[in-house]
Amino acid sequence: MASVTSLRDSVQQHLSSALSAALPEAAGADPLLRRSDRADYQANGILALAKKAKANPRELATQVVSGIVTGEVIADVEVSGPGFLNITVADKAITENLAARYADDTGRLGVPYAAHPGTTVIDYAQPNVAKEMHVGHLRSAVIGDAMVRLLEFTGENVVRRHHIGDWGTQFGMLIQYLDEHPHELDHKESEVSGEEAMSNLDRLYKTARKLFDSDEEFKTRARRRVVDLQAGDPRTLAIWQKFVDESKIYFFSVFDKLDMEVRDPDIVGESGYNDMLAETCRLLEESGVAVRSEGALCVFFDDIKGPEGNPVPLIVQKSDGGYGYAATDLSAIRDRVFNLKATTLLYVVDARQALHFRMVFETARRAGWLNDDVTAVQLAFGTVLGKDGKPFKTRAGETVKLEGLLDEAVERATAVVREKAEKVGLTEDEIVENGRYVGVGAVKYADLSTSAVRDYKFDLDQMVSLNGDTSVYLQYAYARVQSILRKAGEARPAAHPELALAPAERALGLHLDQFAETVLEVAAAREPHKMAAYLYQLASLLTSFYDQCPVLKADSPAQVENRLFLVDLTARTLHEGMALLGIRTPGKL
Ligand code: ARG
Repeated sequence: MASVTSLRDSVQQHLSSALSAALPEAAGADPLLRRSDRADYQANGILALAKKAKANPRELATQVVSGIVTGEVIADVEVSGPGFLNITVADKAITENLAARYADDTGRLGVPYAAHPGTTVIDYAQPNVAKEMHVGHLRSAVIGDAMVRLLEFTGENVVRRHHIGDWGTQFGMLIQYLDEHPHELDHKESEVSGEEAMSNLDRLYKTARKLFDSDEEFKTRARRRVVDLQAGDPRTLAIWQKFVDESKIYFFSVFDKLDMEVRDPDIVGESGYNDMLAETCRLLEESGVAVRSEGALCVFFDDIKGPEGNPVPLIVQKSDGGYGYAATDLSAIRDRVFNLKATTLLYVVDARQALHFRMVFETARRAGWLNDDVTAVQLAFGTVLGKDGKPFKTRAGETVKLEGLLDEAVERATAVVREKAEKVGLTEDEIVENGRYVGVGAVKYADLSTSAVRDYKFDLDQMVSLNGDTSVYLQYAYARVQSILRKAGEARPAAHPELALAPAERALGLHLDQFAETVLEVAAAREPHKMAAYLYQLASLLTSFYDQCPVLKADSPAQVENRLFLVDLTARTLHEGMALLGIRTPGKL
């Protein structure tokens, strides 16, 4: 079983053929079908079409109605207002559609693949070597992971790139220090936890910094090290590698806590483009895209100016010959377009880097590395704020440690899970596991449920609340269905298209039908928050359904089966939707 034609598409097809029969020049026009409170769907497009054809909209609408064959799919259609169409779908069509989704043995719930999949190189989860990860890195990881899952689900070929900050002048200082104090990072890898790795690096960074600031001779030696590093001196590289390895222990521990897969070969940091930097600069200079200005290699833009009206250039190479962030990103574009054959370059990066990416993309366009066949976009995200609405900091004004934050979320979630554990019959192991999935899910969902570019408040109390738009609410909705299925005994979920549906069943069914459309839209528009909104509405419709429709105590055995089928499909949809956001749905909660 492959993909299922949605009810919405079937209705649209009926409508379109009646429309083009009534008004031939409207063939192929969009009747603007929407879900509606008044009926199942409302079509608003006839108004504009009538206007264009200089026809009376109500008359045209009436004519379209008379051309629609009611029966199988459309039970009823009527003209309303100045020329809208109100459409009611047949109960049987709803159940049959859902049954086809339920029967899809590919596990895709009937969702089709995107019509024209391409290759997306996604740049996300990019912390910096020898530095603590902060909440901004959390956002990039969470949003990026959801985008990877959503895109892959639509059939897109996705290449993941973790563009970690592992290159640059600060390494001169670190390497020099470690070379002079060789045992500071010594240990057997397996013995070190992520937290220890980070505190080792942190300690080393602080002492190296102190020395750098106070000892002129050390400073000179450190500066020389940068040159050695960029020149690829083997001994210098070996020490540098120690920092990278130690940092990776830490990164992986955080990603693991986040219940997120990050694969080592996908970590291609700034250093990975080192061999390309000189050529990138040469190509830019030769083509005249970049020019020398006060010794630095710069790209200028007419519309990008500083506060005093003077142009702000993108600096590709500094006057001392060092390459910066821009050179690396431009080289990465060449690699991603020409070697990885990307059709889309997606950067999940803090909105405060928007100007950098604007300049980098424009430079790459001028150089001919980006053209109309490649889309380059920044999926920019806003700042994480504390409860007080100010950028999230500790009371001492330091950035909040990511690990501590996740631990606290899990701790609170575990308390919430524990409260109900006895009633649900959870073992201690299950409490611990669920606490983790609920806690991590809460953090991810809070991040994903607001539009990415907006700042959002990090409020743990709100995140693990059982009421409202939270992941726990969705996870409970899923677990409740599992509990009903367990209690069903002999009764099995089965579709009965002959049964009439209650209003709450219809509402739930029509929303389930929209899952496919939602996935494709969310992936294409890169708006995971709309998936969260879809799922929240699904859980809410499920709650109203329970209020109005008994499941195991329904009127007839057939109705019990049909309702079990309906809640099971809802649970599967919740599960799949949450999985696309990177959130687990425990079976017992
Ligand atoms: N490491 C950077 C940071 O911590 C993010 C890297 C974003 N990706 C890129 N290709 N520039 O801010």
